[in-house]
Formats: sequence, structure tokens, C-alpha cells
Amino acid sequence: MNIQWYPGHMAKAKRQMIEKIKQIDVVIELVDSRIPSASRNPLVDEIASGKPRLLLLNKIDMADPAATAAWKSYHERRGLAVHLVNSQTGQGTSSIAGSVHQLTSQRRKKMEEKGFKPHPDRALILGIPNVGKSTLINRLAGKKIAKIGDRPGVTTAQQWIKVGKTMELLDTPGILWPKFDDPEVGLRLAATGAIKEELLDFQEIAFFLVQLMLQRYRNQLAERYHLSVLPELNRNDQDQEKIIGLFDAIGKSRGCLMSGGLVDYDRTAEIIVRDYRHQKLGCLTLELPAEKTI
Ligand code: G4P
Repeated sequence: MNIQWYPGHMAKAKRQMIEKIKQIDVVIELVDSRIPSASRNPLVDEIASGKPRLLLLNKIDMADPAATAAWKSYHERRGLAVHLVNSQTGQGTSSIAGSVHQLTSQRRKKMEEKGFKPHPDRALILGIPNVGKSTLINRLAGKKIAKIGDRPGVTTAQQWIKVGKTMELLDTPGILWPKFDDPEVGLRLAATGAIKEELLDFQEIAFFLVQLMLQRYRNQLAERYHLSVLPELNRNDQDQEKIIGLFDAIGKSRGCLMSGGLVDYDRTAEIIVRDYRHQKLGCLTLELPAEKTI
């Protein structure tokens, strides 16, 4: 569910998150593998500071496997535990509880030294809307938990879900807002459908996608739209014209013509964006570690 975030919502969501995090041992941060940086909220570092953290790259079925591997090693080199998951099928999710258990070993040791029996590992799933938090909670719970409205600031009674023998998961995820301030980040979020459609200009998003594909995913672009020749981008003023030329070719190949035979750019752009979201263009990752925004 896409919602508008206003300063009041953000402040309330942050306060709620801080309260939730007090009750837990491990923060499980969920991001979208297609945009592993744009789908993070930098606030996580502040509010989860001091707690062990597990990073899950979700929707791996939709992302470029080579880019996903690059992101995994990028974070691992910085000491973060990372799992690659597909919450829809459950791929990669069975080892989450084990990793969480490893992350709590120090806490448990301390408790045992003091003569206490350690409680189960308490974890919370946290992320921006649409990254797959509810899908993952349902998957780990093994049943359908009521969909949590992504309404900032709405409080609901929360419960702990048992996952395996060692972990307890809070049934309501922590929801943070996406980052809107950087236009590049906005485009990446919009391309994947993570932000409200009315806020978007399809032409701008399609332009971004075509430009990226010309740089990195040329075969997929040529194949999908039956393009025999693709221009090379040279990072100069002519690039824009080359991309508009491609819009013309794609529009024609998809029959997006207006009276007089002119290409309907709005319809062409919408087709490109929907093709990306429905994976008709293949599994594309929209950012690499070198282009990360936070
Ligand atoms: P949220 O709680 O973080 O807001 O996200 P939610 O679980 O509602 O998931 C958002 C959309 O992403 C859902 O699709 C969900 O099925 C899909 N999704 C979650 N994890 C994965 C994954 O690993 N791979 C793929 N391919 N999709 C995933 P939807 O179309 O909005 O809803 P639905 O039609 O599936 O109900």
C-alpha cells in the first residue's frame, strides 16, 4: 500500500520504532534487491544502533544475480550479516533464525554468566513500504497474519510469533518512509513501484530505465522491443536525442501511435515501466554498490 508521508507521520513512526526496538535483540532489515540502497532508510543506522543487525536482500527473483552477489559482498566486507531471500517462495528464509541466533550469542553468554536462562531471540522486521515485510512475516509464521496497514503512526496490538526453536518475531513490522529528497533515489523507487503512482511522471521513469538499459542491459532492451541497432551513450548532449529516438522505435514497435502517425510518448513510457515491473525486461538491478546513495 502506498501512502503519503508527512513530517508528523515520520516523527511518529520514528518514535514508535524506537519503542519497538527497545523490546528486541536483533533488527532484521529488509530491502529490495533491485534497489538495495534506495529502498533503505538511513535512519535505521541511528535507531538500530547498538543492536545486532541482519540485512535481507528480498525479491532476489526480480534482481540481476550478479548485482545481488556484488551487494552481498559489499555489505559483508563491512561486517554486516546478509541473506538473499525470496519471501514469496521462501527461498533463503529457513536460515534466518539460525543467523539471528548467532547474532545473539554474546547476549546469551552474558545472561548465562549471571545465572539467568536466556530468553528466545526477539527480532523485528523493519523496512520501507512494499519491500515485502508482510510477505516475509507470513512466510516465517507459516500462516497468514493480518496485513498490517502501512499507515504511519497507527498502533495495533502486537504479538510474538515463534519461528523455529530459538526465535520470536514481532508480528508487526517496523515501517520507515522511503527517501524522497534525492531525485535519483525517487526514480529508482518509482521504477519498482515503491512509491505512489500519482506522484510519478512515467516518461521520466521510462527515460531513466531506457538510459540504464543502454548502459547495462542492452541485450534485454533489444530483445524485448525487437531493436536491431542500439545507440552508444557518450555522456553528452546527444544522448538525450538518442534516447528519444529509441522511444520512437519502441513506440512504433508497440503500436503506440497517435493520429498523424506520431508516437504517443505517454503510452510508450507506461509500457516500458510496466514491462520493467512485470519482469518482461528480465531481472534488472537499478543500482550497484558504487552508486549507492546512503
Ligand atoms: P510490505 O509489507 O513491506 O509493504 O510488502 P508486502 O509484503 O505487502 O509485499 C509487497 C509486494 O511484494 C507484494 O506484491 C508481495 O507479494 C511482493 N513480494 C514480497 N516479497 C517478494 C519476493 O521475494 N519476490 C517477489 N517477486 N515478490 C515479492 P503485490 O503484488 O503488492 O501483492 P500480492 O498480489 O502478491 O498480494
